[in-house]
Amino acid sequence: MHFLHLALSLLTASTTVFALEPLTVKGRKFFQNDTQFYIKGVAYQPKVNAEFTTTVIDPLADAANKNCSEDAKLIRNLGANTIRVYSVNASLDHDKCMNAFKNESIYVFLDVANPSTGIDRTDPTWTTTQYDAYKQVVDVFSKYNNTAGFLAGNEVVNNASNVPSAAYVRSAIRDLKSYIKSKKYRSIPVGYAGADIPDIRNELAAYLTCNATNTPQDNATEADFLGYNNYEWCGNSNFYASGYAARTNELQNITVPIFFSEFGCNIISPRTFSEVQAIYSKNMTDVWSGGIVYEFSEEVNGYGLVNITSTGERVKNADFGNLQKQWASVNPEKMSLLSYNTSDTRLPECPARNKTSWAVASDAFPITPNATFCDDAVKNLHCSVQGEPKGSKIGQVLGELCYYDQEACADISSDPYNGHYGKFSGCTGKQQLSFALDAYTKHHGDEACSWGGVGVLS
Ligand SMILES: *[C@@H]1O[C@H](CO)[C@@H](O)[C@H](O)[C@H]1NC(C)=O
Ligand SMILES: *[C@@H]1O[C@H](CO)[C@@H](O)[C@H](O)[C@H]1NC(C)=O
Ligand SMILES: *[C@@H]1O[C@H](CO)[C@@H](O)[C@H](O)[C@H]1NC(C)=O
Ligand SMILES: *[C@@H]1O[C@H](CO)[C@@H](O)[C@H](O)[C@H]1NC(C)=O
Ligand SMILES: *[C@@H]1O[C@H](CO)[C@@H](O)[C@H](O)[C@H]1NC(C)=O
Ligand SMILES: *[C@@H]1O[C@H](CO)[C@@H](O)[C@H](O)[C@H]1NC(C)=O
Ligand SMILES: *[C@@H]1O[C@H](CO)[C@@H](O)[C@H](O)[C@H]1NC(C)=O
Ligand SMILES: *[C@@H]1O[C@H](CO)[C@@H](O)[C@H](O)[C@H]1NC(C)=O
Ligand SMILES: *[C@@H]1O[C@H](CO)[C@@H](O)[C@H](O)[C@H]1NC(C)=O
Ligand SMILES: *[C@@H]1O[C@H](CO)[C@@H](O)[C@H](O)[C@H]1NC(C)=O
Ligand SMILES: *[C@@H]1O[C@H](CO)[C@@H](O)[C@H](O)[C@H]1NC(C)=O
Ligand SMILES: *[C@@H]1O[C@H](CO)[C@@H](O)[C@H](O)[C@H]1NC(C)=O
Repeated sequence: MHFLHLALSLLTASTTVFALEPLTVKGRKFFQNDTQFYIKGVAYQPKVNAEFTTTVIDPLADAANKNCSEDAKLIRNLGANTIRVYSVNASLDHDKCMNAFKNESIYVFLDVANPSTGIDRTDPTWTTTQYDAYKQVVDVFSKYNNTAGFLAGNEVVNNASNVPSAAYVRSAIRDLKSYIKSKKYRSIPVGYAGADIPDIRNELAAYLTCNATNTPQDNATEADFLGYNNYEWCGNSNFYASGYAARTNELQNITVPIFFSEFGCNIISPRTFSEVQAIYSKNMTDVWSGGIVYEFSEEVNGYGLVNITSTGERVKNADFGNLQKQWASVNPEKMSLLSYNTSDTRLPECPARNKTSWAVASDAFPITPNATFCDDAVKNLHCSVQGEPKGSKIGQVLGELCYYDQEACADISSDPYNGHYGKFSGCTGKQQLSFALDAYTKHHGDEACSWGGVGVLS
């Protein structure tokens, strides 16, 4: 009888598609079905076929990564329930890889940027070009139940001098949230992964999650969650010496889920991952939702849980077994969705603007890039850019032109400290140059249109 029963259940199993409930966010916690969910994650970005390509190395691309299924099983065996992927190419197929991870009940946090579309901290922009690229990633990955969240940036802000770039991150989050809503996709949360920078880390957390626009929660523009890349706990540290106690206290008023989007200091090797005991303990679980260990494969910086040989074999380092034991030994208390009361939750105050330490306004953000608006406006110009000049050429001409005639660049310029964003500041670089050249020509006569050899009169 037992054998018959087993055979029948195997038969049914093979005909049903394995279902995985999407994660949801309520208040400062993640939920799976109606039970709280703690992230036990690994950063997953093996340099798949790295020697053959200079383009984005997409570890979730079916064609490039033949090892998704084996890796998903190995990662499940490690005790993880989540991976984080830093860069994908939205024009490739991802069904097989995403399914392989889904089959092992593994969720995916995905960065939407790649090196050419990310927000540049020293010269931040939020343009139709970037928005379109991010939308493509959202279009592709929103159909998978195991997409846990999108990261609109990783360590964009990394010191007090580039704080203005935070405004662009907040706009990217706002616009991706509104895009997901407008497409009626599942309500996948959009967040950000921050670097651990003592001068600004708390202001940044508040800035990205604060009640900036005084709008009701249902069209709120703030981040849905925050990741924190943190390497403070090295070797056998403890809750206090590591800084974890201080960080937990500092973030107590943040009202969205927070987790370590990277952790695992490797100064002392092999790593014992003793911090796992603290992360999933009552000391931290009111504020934190777990963390993501950096990282699956050994790369030049030496954080690999496994080494990948030239034949594709995965060789476990001691860290792998150590982490596996730690994760298996923690069992954090899980709240039920229904008993979690968030009715009196208020978003935090926005940080005060300060010329030296926090030089960005929080009552206005970069405008939503709108391609139709830009395309229409550029049609009516007297002087505009023809052909396809290189990005570097556009940058050079704009730099010179705006230096000589600031006013001609008013509509494409931004001033994050005062919260002023030009109405064409979200257009493509080529369009911005057209607007600037047109205004410059108005000031200096038709001949001025030929600056840099890119402008043509209509
Ligand atoms: C996706 O999640 C929904 C619930 O939101 C569930 O009904 C469905 O079966 C899941 N699909 C897959 C393929 O896991
Ligand atoms: C979540 O609910 C689905 C049915 O909707 C069930 O198949 C699955 O086992 C549940 N998952 C967990 C982790 O409870
Ligand atoms: C994405 O993949 C397509 C198709 O292989 C390729 O043409 C393109 O260059 C890739 N993009 C990036 C940014 O790697
Ligand atoms: C996922 O599981 C299904 C059902 O067991 C199976 O048909 C499919 O081949 C698996 N996919 C991958 C990529 O492992
Ligand atoms: C915000 O949401 C409310 C309620 O759904 C709606 O009335 C209002 O128009 C929305 N505001 C904006 C700016 O979208
Ligand atoms: C958190 O909020 C409480 C009540 O408003 C306040 O007293 C406390 O100083 C805040 N803590 C931090 C770290 O911001
Ligand atoms: C939790 O905090 C207490 C002190 O409040 C400390 O003694 C204990 O070691 C901490 N637990 C963990 C797992 O870090
Ligand atoms: C990874 O993929 C390669 C190429 O298909 C294969 O030779 C290798 O055995 C795979 N490794 C594992 C661990 O499955
Ligand atoms: C993995 O590679 C690193 C760096 O080359 C090396 O130090 C380490 O011994 C390797 N681990 C194993 C298990 O081979
Ligand atoms: C945001 O601020 C407005 C105005 O002060 C308030 O009505 C609203 O409840 C706040 N929203 C949240 C979620 O705190
Ligand atoms: C701005 O921040 C600096 C450094 O934190 C501080 O010394 C200064 O008092 C602040 N200025 C104002 C106007 O708050
Ligand atoms: C984009 O701009 C066009 C043309 O000005 C306008 O009709 C449209 O409403 C705008 N779209 C959004 C989402 O604001």
